[in-house]
Amino acid sequence: MPHFIDIADFSKEALLAMLKEARRRKVARAGWPKGRVDADAPLTDHVLALLFEKPSTRTRLSFDMAMRQLGGATVIMNAGDMQLGRGESIEDTAHVLGRMVDGVMARVHGHDKIEALAEHAGMPVINGLTDLSHPCQIMADLQTLEEHKGALEGLTVAWVGDCANVTRSWIEAATLLGMHFRIGAPEGYRPEEDVLAWAKENGAEVFITEDAAEAVQGADCVMTDTWISMHHKEEEKAKRIADLSPYQVTPELMAQAKEDAIFMHCLPAHRGEEVAAEVIDGPASVVFDEAENRLHAQKAILLHCFGKLG
Ligand code: CP
Ligand code: NVA
Repeated sequence: MPHFIDIADFSKEALLAMLKEARRRKVARAGWPKGRVDADAPLTDHVLALLFEKPSTRTRLSFDMAMRQLGGATVIMNAGDMQLGRGESIEDTAHVLGRMVDGVMARVHGHDKIEALAEHAGMPVINGLTDLSHPCQIMADLQTLEEHKGALEGLTVAWVGDCANVTRSWIEAATLLGMHFRIGAPEGYRPEEDVLAWAKENGAEVFITEDAAEAVQGADCVMTDTWISMHHKEEEKAKRIADLSPYQVTPELMAQAKEDAIFMHCLPAHRGEEVAAEVIDGPASVVFDEAENRLHAQKAILLHCFGKLG
């Protein structure tokens, strides 16, 4: 069953094929009204359930629009309004969904839940973010980076601040695609050992330093994420902000990267915390290209999952 659970499940060739499709579809419908269906309407008659245990703006909107533009339809389900929110098992939910729709994109807390969905749904399952990883985001990030910097292989990406789900999926992508990944983060805010070990086994060395300025040396792209992810506890907030405050992406930090370095952020952003307003609202920022590319990249992911890619 072709799921989309983690970047590490794919080969370099498969990732590049999805990116090519995302690029092709974006160009093919440039300037069209957003509601017009792509000329080939490849997902006509297909329905995708969008299941959310956590809030979302971009993931919800982009998957909904992606399905419409591919000729299909969606059913949006918030866990709080479902029996899932009252304790029905993810396994039973998966079986029921599998009887009525053709695929499911789910944003859930534990990664084990997305794995259980994939095991029991009997149809394609897409990871729309778990506490552990956020692979769909990375496909859009790769598309954006390629648009601005050309071929991905050999590019240097610097990640500054907290390392969470987005960082993990980025390490997987950088490893498979031959990119240099440099992290500036304090102890306690770094990626899990298992993903670093996986990168090493697959021929990549993730450079990690406590010094944000050192991390961004030679970077084509500087990235960060919120210091308080949806899975972090409210009571950790003050300590996280205090510990991470030296890691704000400021104009001074951007000046340490390559002269033409771009800034990316998956959003939502917190100006004055992980990024200064002058950076995210400044000329190096491509965050809204990145947000738009969620739509185009997701279309390629959907086509992969429904067996319509190449
Ligand atoms: N970047 C991202 O996944 O945004 P949402 O949380 O709004 O979906
Ligand atoms: N790390 C963030 C990403 C949001 C898209 C979170 O999990 O909240």
